[in-house]
Amino acid sequence: MTQTPRHYHITTFGCQMNKADSEQMAGILEKMGFQWSDDPNQADLILYNTCTIRDNAEQKVYSYLGLQARRKQENPNLTLILSGCVAQQEGEKLLQRIPELDLVMGPQHTNRLENLLEDVFNGNQVVATESRHITENITQPRRESTVTAWVNVIYGCNERCTYCVVPNVRGVEQSRTPVSIKKEVADLATQGYKEITLLGQNIDAYGRDLPGSTETGRHLYNFTDLLYFLHDVPGIERFRFATSHPRYFTERLIQACAQLDKVCKYFHIPFQSGDNDILKSMGRGYTIERYREIIDKIREYMPDAAISADVIVGFPGESEQQFQNTLKLVEEIGFDQLNSAAYSPRPGTPAAHWSDQLSFEIKSDRLQRINHLINTKAAHRSQLRLGQIEKVLVEQVNLKDPSQVMGRTDGNRLTFFAGDINQLKGKVVSVKITATRPFSLTGDLV
Ligand code: SAH
Ligand code: SF4
Ligand code: F3S
Repeated sequence: MTQTPRHYHITTFGCQMNKADSEQMAGILEKMGFQWSDDPNQADLILYNTCTIRDNAEQKVYSYLGLQARRKQENPNLTLILSGCVAQQEGEKLLQRIPELDLVMGPQHTNRLENLLEDVFNGNQVVATESRHITENITQPRRESTVTAWVNVIYGCNERCTYCVVPNVRGVEQSRTPVSIKKEVADLATQGYKEITLLGQNIDAYGRDLPGSTETGRHLYNFTDLLYFLHDVPGIERFRFATSHPRYFTERLIQACAQLDKVCKYFHIPFQSGDNDILKSMGRGYTIERYREIIDKIREYMPDAAISADVIVGFPGESEQQFQNTLKLVEEIGFDQLNSAAYSPRPGTPAAHWSDQLSFEIKSDRLQRINHLINTKAAHRSQLRLGQIEKVLVEQVNLKDPSQVMGRTDGNRLTFFAGDINQLKGKVVSVKITATRPFSLTGDLV
């Protein structure tokens, strides 16, 4: 008897790690015979891969889930899965809140999806949130792009920033071995991928848990070594990496980035606040002077480097003056891109219990003010590109104008220009910039 194929749909919230995890889980589902459905309402299996970094991210998933839970009441064959960081944070409690759920699984269980589903298809409601060592996965992820790919190099985070849920939901640091990372990169090159983004919540921590590392703080194998090790994989034209922590960012890494021509001159180094007392209460472990030093060093070695970062406004106790210090830093550094967020108290984090929380009004006012400045500075950084020739890796057609293609510059700016995607996809081409916007560029192929 032939079975009609079952369809699946995944909705992904949150960061690049979640996106990478979703691609893994899609790969597993396809290996099991499921087929992708764009429309969740046509799917027999729905997976929400969730984020809990801020309250609004968490709440979003409940409204999505509510709809599908109602659908399940009419269609008991529908399989409902909640994965990712909300799943890890809430665990069993989710089954009380949404009894229609079949499977609740934390991020460390990503590559166990097939086993967990077997349990579900045997009629069980399954919760998988215990911490575990992540073993290498042999399933091919189903990747969104055929040009750029994410590769995890380290899972988890051992920092204890006082606002952040990530260590609670992603567990302790676990570095993959250099050899298995290189194998994945080489396989991607064989499949025609051109750009690799290496991922870690604190990528500078890479290697410190690997055997052979010392406990004296000097590690035998670190992220800089990994960059040198991966650089010669033939076929790969670009490497990017994220996220860097200012506490561990070294001059040796800066030198390596300057020296290795496949490494994009683009750095994502969140500073979170421009005020030393706030940084201290955030538990970040560096000062603003140190942060400036890093940026100065990067610009000394690579004057054209693009810098991006994350910042939080309205942290508990942040005074207007301290917020001004953040604005001052943004003004002086002039980021190419800056992700801003109003502080959101998170369960299980120290800062959520402090009494000096700021009002919603103050937080949103500061967010608006900083966003205005971010736009102005990014527009200025973009304008510097006007008339320049940029190397662009072409990724896909411009969805808003099919006569154009879309790619990214070395500095990670989206760039649009007239051209045929069939000829240009996956190629690095020279584009003369003719128009700029804060976060994107337009140009002509030269
Ligand atoms: N590992 C990265 C960031 C991970 S979370 C780092 O250390 O920088 C992504 C971003 O979300 C953070 O950089 C921070 O700016 C923001 N963020 C994290 N927790 C938050 C909270 N409780 N409220 C508001 N923004 C938060
Ligand atoms: Fe969160 Fe800090 Fe770890 Fe980044 S370094 S994930 S902000 S705890
Ligand atoms: Fe969100 Fe989890 Fe990433 S909380 S930002 S999806 S690590």
